[in-house]
Amino acid sequence: MRLAQRVSRIQPSATLAINSKARALRQQGTHVVNFGVGEPDFGTPLHIQQAAIKAIRDGHTRYTPVSGIDQLKEAICDTLRNDYGLTYHNENVLVTCGGKHALYNLFQVLLEAGDEVIIPSPYWVSYPEMVALAEATPVMVSCLQTNNFKLHPSDLERAITPSTRLLILNSPSNPTGAHYTRKELEGLAELLLRHPQVLIVSDDIYYRILFSGQEWVSLGMVDEELRSRMFIVNGVSKTYCMTGWRIGYLIGNREVVKAATKIQSQSTTNPTSISQYAALAALRGDQGFVRTMATAFEERCHYVMDRLGELPGVSCPTPAGAFYVFPNFSSFFGKSGKGKLIRDSLALADYLMEHAHVALVPGGPFGEDQCLRFSYALSMEDLQEGFNRISRAIMELS
Ligand SMILES: Cc1ncc(COP(=O)(O)O)c(C=O)c1O
Repeated sequence: MRLAQRVSRIQPSATLAINSKARALRQQGTHVVNFGVGEPDFGTPLHIQQAAIKAIRDGHTRYTPVSGIDQLKEAICDTLRNDYGLTYHNENVLVTCGGKHALYNLFQVLLEAGDEVIIPSPYWVSYPEMVALAEATPVMVSCLQTNNFKLHPSDLERAITPSTRLLILNSPSNPTGAHYTRKELEGLAELLLRHPQVLIVSDDIYYRILFSGQEWVSLGMVDEELRSRMFIVNGVSKTYCMTGWRIGYLIGNREVVKAATKIQSQSTTNPTSISQYAALAALRGDQGFVRTMATAFEERCHYVMDRLGELPGVSCPTPAGAFYVFPNFSSFFGKSGKGKLIRDSLALADYLMEHAHVALVPGGPFGEDQCLRFSYALSMEDLQEGFNRISRAIMELS
């Protein structure tokens, strides 16, 4: 069957691929410790589940407005007011089928062939693919491990050309857990103000999973002028353990939101009606659960950093949030184990999957082949067992 060329322009998701490998081993009866998962291991809080059941019983089972129900858009605007100190109105909001869909719609509206999109590297695997789907060119900008893998204004300046249309910032970050400080954002803002053609996407999907001593701040909060060029992408997936419910949102310039709504109207129509009512309960309900979850991730992060510190030759910047670490394992490259040469992050991830039954995502698809991505959205027992296995398998490399 002839497939359209756009299919060959994109790669399947590396994180989903690792999860299906782990699932296949599990189906054969093997206990795999899966550090590959990109979602909280907690269940959706009960009051949110109940809101969804109520929505069904109340008959909210039909099409909704394409851009989402008004009550949810109002709740999103209130959240932005409380958490960012920024004022937006319903016409600035598009509710989508997950944060990923918000990014997809935005890219479809803003990008075309010839446009360049700056993606600080390491990056979330889906950014370059979604940019390519919109026929634009992803421009990866390497960020130093010594700068906690964060973008420095001088790196950004070198990457900007007359074709630069968009910069993607993700803080806290998948895969590194790094979070930009106010001062760092001010540095980037100062440069961006000198390049008015560059629009900005702030992917804030992990913003409520921030560790002690971290201040929540994003680019639009440090500079009023940049706000008009900035789009915020967020959603309920990570904050409220609702990855399967598929509710995200796009915030920004009303003309762009209107255009993205038009795209959505010819693809998914509206996001699921029931999930919208559940998301409304999530945003309007008690937020205590979110703090408890962030604290649990912080404790696990300490444990993970301690165990990584015990592995000889492994270095890793300390995360400030989310539930990922991105340690550098390159000191093992060139060694062999069970007759196989460990050439790169993929070979190491394969070796650990086959011989230690531990699933990790290779760093290559995140733009940094020296690293492996660990998600620590796992129970403490699994974390302990996983690190025991990794230590043993790594020691066998020579
Ligand atoms: C950085 C980042 N942005 C956006 C998303 C999209 O999340 P969702 O589509 O579930 O809202 C993810 C999910 O893994 C992510 O890691």
